[in-house]
Amino acid sequence: MSQNEVLNAITYRRSIFQANYNEQEISKENLLTILEAANAAPTHKRTQPWRFVIFRNDGLVRLGNELGRIYKEVTPAEKYTELNEQNMVKKATMSKAAMAIIVNYTGELPEWEELAATACAVQNMWLAAYSLKIGAYWATPGLINHLGSFLGLAENQKCIGLFYLGHHSSEDREPVRSPIAEKIRWEE
Ligand SMILES: Cc1cc2nc3c(=O)[nH]c(=O)nc-3n(C[C@H](O)[C@H](O)[C@H](O)COP(=O)(O)O)c2cc1C
Repeated sequence: MSQNEVLNAITYRRSIFQANYNEQEISKENLLTILEAANAAPTHKRTQPWRFVIFRNDGLVRLGNELGRIYKEVTPAEKYTELNEQNMVKKATMSKAAMAIIVNYTGELPEWEELAATACAVQNMWLAAYSLKIGAYWATPGLINHLGSFLGLAENQKCIGLFYLGHHSSEDREPVRSPIAEKIRWEE
């Protein structure tokens, strides 16, 4: 890909996980920049279906405790381990911020269009985070299907993941992908 700043961000945006996050706080200003990028995503009929609950500081502890509680509640006894429960809590507490990604279904469009628009918003956030040297990734554990009351979701809303964030000092990495040539067909 020939590179300018946008193409560079698209190429080098990576999933960056908690183990790589450092102690640096993410400023509210940077989080708002990332959220404004989400809000600029394309949206059919301008339904703007993306919603976010942002967790910082004690909010991350509450999120972690809730994820641990849900894990314990929904995991069959033979599969439950205390280590997994602690790891679920740590996903939140080792992050510097987390955002619950929520789709607000309006009924004005097929649901997949609202879902697609929200995914576009997430990619915008991911690219904005990269541009601010903030690492992030989209996590979709099955537990997100049990977060409704904790997040205060309405009937028409669904949590489709958690976006975890933290500053880091990992080197840029190329994407690992099979060639685009295998996924396209030209009609000329
Ligand atoms: C819809 C969606 C859900 C994802 N869910 C998870 C997840 O639950 N856990 C995880 O570690 N990564 C998750 N990822 C991140 C992918 O694993 C990651 O994007 C992929 O490995 C490619 O790496 P890259 O983002 O660094 O290019 C998800 C990504 C997407 C788009």
